[in-house]
Amino acid sequence: MPGRLYDLNSSKYGTEAELKALVSAFHAKGIQCVADIVINHRCADYKDSRGIYCIFEGGTPDDRLDWGPGMICRDDTQYSDGTGNPDTGGDFGAAPDIDHLNPRVQHELSDWLNWLKTDIGFDGWRLDFAKGYSANVAKIYVQNTSPSFVVAEIWSSLSYNGDGKPSNNQDGDRQELVNWAQEVGGPATSFDFTTKGILQVAVQGELWRMRDGNGKAPGMLGWLPEKAVTFIDNHDTGSTQRLWPFPSDQVMQGYAYILTHPGIPCIFYDHLFDWGLKGPISELAAIRSRNGIHSGSTLRILVAEADLYLAMIDEKVITKLGPRFDVGNLIPSNFHVAAHGNNYCIWEKNRGL
Ligand SMILES: *[C@@H]1O[C@H](CO)[C@@H](O)[C@H](O)[C@H]1NC(C)=O
Repeated sequence: MPGRLYDLNSSKYGTEAELKALVSAFHAKGIQCVADIVINHRCADYKDSRGIYCIFEGGTPDDRLDWGPGMICRDDTQYSDGTGNPDTGGDFGAAPDIDHLNPRVQHELSDWLNWLKTDIGFDGWRLDFAKGYSANVAKIYVQNTSPSFVVAEIWSSLSYNGDGKPSNNQDGDRQELVNWAQEVGGPATSFDFTTKGILQVAVQGELWRMRDGNGKAPGMLGWLPEKAVTFIDNHDTGSTQRLWPFPSDQVMQGYAYILTHPGIPCIFYDHLFDWGLKGPISELAAIRSRNGIHSGSTLRILVAEADLYLAMIDEKVITKLGPRFDVGNLIPSNFHVAAHGNNYCIWEKNRGL
């Protein structure tokens, strides 16, 4: 719920100077930093003459980002004065939705993003609630700021059958994610909410879900893996909010999938540092890197049945999910076990000398 965007000294997490030091410490370790960009909506600091909170302060001595009710979308009837452009995306109820078609808004937010890059040191953006503005709007900010990486939070919803289970075809859901990445272009990627949703049901005895009608992975990664950021949980779905959590006892099965498959896997802080999974997650990450598995790796699904999912990646790594134990006859003799845990096993091809 950001308001004074240039003020990085007033948060309980620390000061601007501390943030810059943190970013440069990451850079010294070869790690790029992605800022969580919340621009769909913005919290105002003051009320206008109508008694409505719609006067914004940027947090600088000059008037950058000092906006009024005319910068709020006119269909946001709760906060606007009716003079902004209509919203180009979904409404966020709890704060004013900003009018991203206003040239001053575009200009000043682009300047602010470039300040986050040049002054604070950020490399890329995670676009919060990207459903709230059009892909064309996102494209303007991406083109004006040239980030090295962009990922959109488009929390698409799976379609469900009458029994409360996801339906067998989630093509509409993943198409929305693919469309966004393609319309924005350049470095733009989307969080693969489709894979997360299907995978967390599949690991509960329905692994047949992990192959679509065309033999491909059922999530965004089956269609546009280079632009699909796969994940198990994040601060909204899991952690303290738990709005759509992955079954906690199957989390490592989830990592066995995303860390060996195409797509851009994302490891959740909570799992690595709070859940004691640093060992097994690192083991899987090491398999990924030593086999050169990348976002566009080739996936060949061998079996997808209720109790067994088996897939070959780049003809070098085999991933098994599920409780079925006897799969020996399906594993070529020139492969050996590289990692295993509760309901998962990974084999690697032997290296020739
Ligand atoms: C935050 O503190 C830094 C010094 O650490 C200062 O340069 C900057 O102007 C401050 N920003 C605001 C908005 O007060």
